Amino acid sequence: MTERLKISGLKKAFGSKVVLDGVDLSVAPGESLVIIGGSGTGKSVLLKCILGLIKPDAGSILLDGKELVGLKGRALEEARARFGMLFQGGALFDSLPVWRNITFALTQGKLGGGAQMRKLAIENLTKVGLEARVADLRPSELSGGMQKRVALARAIAAKPEIIFFDEPTTGLDPIRADVINALIREQVTALGATALTITHDMASVRHIADRVAMLHGGRIIWQGPVSELDSSGNDYVDQFVHGRREGPMRVATTA
Ligand SMILES: Nc1ncnc2c1ncn2[C@@H]1O[C@H](COP(=O)(O)OP(=O)(O)OP(=O)(O)O)[C@@H](O)[C@H]1O
Ligand SMILES: [Mg+2]
Repeated sequence: MTERLKISGLKKAFGSKVVLDGVDLSVAPGESLVIIGGSGTGKSVLLKCILGLIKPDAGSILLDGKELVGLKGRALEEARARFGMLFQGGALFDSLPVWRNITFALTQGKLGGGAQMRKLAIENLTKVGLEARVADLRPSELSGGMQKRVALARAIAAKPEIIFFDEPTTGLDPIRADVINALIREQVTALGATALTITHDMASVRHIADRVAMLHGGRIIWQGPVSELDSSGNDYVDQFVHGRREGPMRVATTA
């Protein structure tokens, strides 16, 4: 199998705290992989390692067979240009109108290309079901669900080959979450993109995933097709999928 992304032996510690302890994971072209795992298990750290925002201590991340770890300057920018990203919490810039947020990466953060960029932003707003008038609002003037849609519009605006979604539905009611899930599926399919999503929302997992991988104790402890999620035979996966307090994963009740 030719892999779009192939992660091997990835390790990252912060001081004495080991977060990633040898992650092995591959994503095929056009596949939608969802990573599940408890809070603080290192899901966002894993994503940031792929994006080159955090430097891993060891291991390899291959993009179409080419090493991403250690890339700098122009080579890193070229690799990143193939990625779209929806950050946990949206991470929209409140100082900029919505349309500038959507085209931020396309203009490399510079404020050029006014009319053309605004038009492109509105096209992408339409794809996520928002009206053109939203383009001129500030992110702070939008509801949480609208902010997620804008963040999705930003993630797809550059027509990336690979899109990362970090908790795309957190904080939304179940109906709005379902709308975002459907939009993600639709837009990823329309672009023919490869998608890697992180979520604790099981409805999201079932909606978005072709394949699921569970991160626990710094490693991928289970992976399989979404159809096998309910019969994984893995106690950790079972506990997570059913949201049980009792199970192999102990959670301090004060946390
Ligand atoms: N830049 C950093 N410096 C130090 N520690 C960090 C840094 N980034 C993350 N961590 C730590 O790494 C661990 C994993 O964090 P991460 O954000 O990846 O968790 P997560 O699995 O995404 O959790 P959640 O589901 O709550 O988003 C946490 O203990 C966090 O405090
Ligand atoms: Mg996270």
